[in-house]
Amino acid sequence: MPAIEIKPDIYWIGVNDRTTDLFEGLWPIEQEGVSYNAYLINDQKKAIVDLAKAFKTDEFFDQIAEIVDLSKIDYLVINHMEPDHTGVLRTLRKLAPGATILGSAKTREMLESFYGVTANVRVVEDGEMLSLGRRTLQFFSTPFVHWPETMMTYETTHRVLFSCDAFGGYGALRGAIFDDEYADLGFYQKESLRYYVNIVAKFSKPVLRAIEKLADVPVDIIAPSHGLIWRERPQLIVELYQKWAEYATGETEAEITLIYGSMYGNTEAMMNAVAQGISGVGVPLEIFDAARTDVSYILPSLWTRAGVMVGAPTYEGTLFPPVAQALEMAALKRVLNKKVAMFGSYGWSGGALKHLKEIIEPVKWELLDSFEFTGRPTEGDLEKGEEFGARFAKMIRRDEG
Ligand code: FEO
Repeated sequence: MPAIEIKPDIYWIGVNDRTTDLFEGLWPIEQEGVSYNAYLINDQKKAIVDLAKAFKTDEFFDQIAEIVDLSKIDYLVINHMEPDHTGVLRTLRKLAPGATILGSAKTREMLESFYGVTANVRVVEDGEMLSLGRRTLQFFSTPFVHWPETMMTYETTHRVLFSCDAFGGYGALRGAIFDDEYADLGFYQKESLRYYVNIVAKFSKPVLRAIEKLADVPVDIIAPSHGLIWRERPQLIVELYQKWAEYATGETEAEITLIYGSMYGNTEAMMNAVAQGISGVGVPLEIFDAARTDVSYILPSLWTRAGVMVGAPTYEGTLFPPVAQALEMAALKRVLNKKVAMFGSYGWSGGALKHLKEIIEPVKWELLDSFEFTGRPTEGDLEKGEEFGARFAKMIRRDEG
């Protein structure tokens, strides 16, 4: 895509990535893609805000060169050091050797450790202003959104907030960059949530701190470094991020995630009975086969919903590994304070339930109920499973409260 002017003399530059399979080497994006957005301000002083991954480097620098002579770049603002935003840094240094790098004190340390860059780096303070001529930039320290060095940059005339990871999402751009150019924002909202839970959610407190800190800053455009630029409804993505961040410690939706695995269909047969019980009560339910679904797609459901129904057989005395691994990742991502029930089949001795308790105890998930059976479930077992599902659904709906 060519550079796009988002306000007079302020340009979106960036690259769409539709060929990386795993974001951070971890999270699948082969279907959805991702964009690395950066910005160019062509004032008397010329500034680039953030860069891109070392990917399609020619395309990235050609976009800039169409507007300004690269060697005339005065400033490179680094809001965040993660290499999806700095991968082309060393190339930029060669093309624009006179550009001063601006960032936080932590950024200066990381520039040396990641890229061996120490020269022509200037630390900017929280709230500091920088005149580019007609336009002024202001820098806001927003640590841990997503790394400790992170800051946001605000352009004061057109009230554009360059927020880097904050308010970003997965999803390559589809030939347009603004929210109002998409008739259906559902895809980007869903992928923003998945991105939030995969990447940022562990830092939900810093996210809330950043939103509060910037609450009185008038913003017309939210320009993140992944996904859409929000110019029609900038408040929408802020409110969504706030809601997702508040889920970390506050009340979540009275809904259930059912995560299961099954070796020979016995736990799956019970899963269907349990799901029937839950759905019969009318509580919204999402079902994931942990062996066949990457945890990236399971985490948003776990994050937003109050109830977790775990269905897993005992496997060599432990919880069926794909289910255990998904729950361990949820614990790593600090998915806290869930209500849980567990069912599953075992052959000769249990162990799954004990293992589940070990996984969920550190993240304060409360086990409300469990139901294990031997081998293949009988008709009677399936009836009990349906009742078990219904009982749990009523607890999640807080019927007893
Ligand atoms: Fe998009 Fe934390 O990097």
